[in-house]
Amino acid sequence: MDSLRIRGGTPLEGELRPGGSKNATLPILAATLLSSGLVDIRNVPEVRDVTLMLELLDTLGAEIETNGNGRVSINTSEVHKLVAPYDLVRKMRASFLVLGPLLARFGRVEVSLPGGCAIGSRPVDQHLKALRKLGATIDLAQGYVTARCSDRLQGADIEFDVVTVGGTQNVMMAATLADGTTRMKNAAKEPEVVELADCLRSMGALISGDGTDCITVIGQQQLHSGGCTVSADRIEVGTFLAAAAATHGRIRIVDSDPLVLETVLETFRKFGTTINIDGSTIELSASHCELKATDIVTDVYPGIPTDLQAQFLALNCVSSGSSRVIETVFENRFMHVQELVRLGANASLESPTIAVIQGVHELRGATVMATDLRASSSLVIGALVAEGISEINRIYHLDRGYERIEEKLQLLGADVERVSAH
Ligand code: EPZ
Repeated sequence: MDSLRIRGGTPLEGELRPGGSKNATLPILAATLLSSGLVDIRNVPEVRDVTLMLELLDTLGAEIETNGNGRVSINTSEVHKLVAPYDLVRKMRASFLVLGPLLARFGRVEVSLPGGCAIGSRPVDQHLKALRKLGATIDLAQGYVTARCSDRLQGADIEFDVVTVGGTQNVMMAATLADGTTRMKNAAKEPEVVELADCLRSMGALISGDGTDCITVIGQQQLHSGGCTVSADRIEVGTFLAAAAATHGRIRIVDSDPLVLETVLETFRKFGTTINIDGSTIELSASHCELKATDIVTDVYPGIPTDLQAQFLALNCVSSGSSRVIETVFENRFMHVQELVRLGANASLESPTIAVIQGVHELRGATVMATDLRASSSLVIGALVAEGISEINRIYHLDRGYERIEEKLQLLGADVERVSAH
């Protein structure tokens, strides 16, 4: 298993172009199963989760053409297998997003339950409850969901009990081929829901209200060829901004979308950094500022994303003063705290969802272990600040969602190398 070796203490300086959004790409790849033609997707990031989703589509019988610089063309007219197996779904939970499209297109599908993961139990009850409202018969046995519908799914009024990004996406996709109109209340408003709707509209879907908590879908007999360009990964942008802030550096992020990061950018200003926005360029400077500890409460969009909680917590570890970080979305998303303490941070858990941090003047290099995707990026931030050398193990977690992170950090002046285990 690879690890990252980082010598901390160098301010990050320079320009970064973020990769395509992993969390926009994954549902869009699943949506290709709804089309009877070719779907052309650009700016697809080369990260492990995307590779696994493409593997799943290939297993189902999709024809996939990749051209190496982020362009993927997918034709699912020959899809013949309607089972998403456990050994793929357990590796990449978003595989569960093929449930809605396969059910709507073929009337029958078996998808392994994704199971839990490091950050929580990750139930899918809302997905199943909503699909039943659309007329699906759903059975659970031996860890698999078997979903059927006699003819077509039937449009219906749905209200989610909790805001769920994946649930909103799964049901929105299924509704595009249902007979009649589906209204989804308490829907997720994340930008990745809007991006999926845009791609579905390019395929002929009739969707409105995406980006609000009430989405309306008017079902069609079939969807045709389409395509889209995936936006910049807003979580990668936030991660690198946090790294630049923690190291008192100065970074320009180009080809990004500041509009989907308003709350995040406001939070960096509360830490005392200077943020300038010019069109699609975000510039953060922390070279002459004392970082001020800032309380963080994660929330659904447009609040502070849970996927940036670990990064902001790492920033608080090296900011002046005390702070609290409250995780409201997942039940076990503080696995990084104990690893940051190994780097010298003064942080602890007041409860499973509340961390308290007292900023310290310096961190010291140590060997730490990545536990999940975003936790591992907070360890990178800690290591970039720590005096001396740190080694971050199990960085396959990082590779799931960050494209060649060590190369991007090296371009920004970081002293980092990937160490491949033999
Ligand atoms: C998506 O996961 C993202 N993943 C996650 O990013 C992100 O953290 C999460 O949304 C929240 O923004 C992808 O887009 C591939 P949810 P998802 O359903 O859809 C509960 C990363 O690091 N819930 O919005 O699985 C659930 O337990 C990943 O890139 C139910 O109770 O998240 C959680 O507490 C991590 N029943 C809350 O809702 C359900 O049926 C939000 O989960 C579904 C969800």
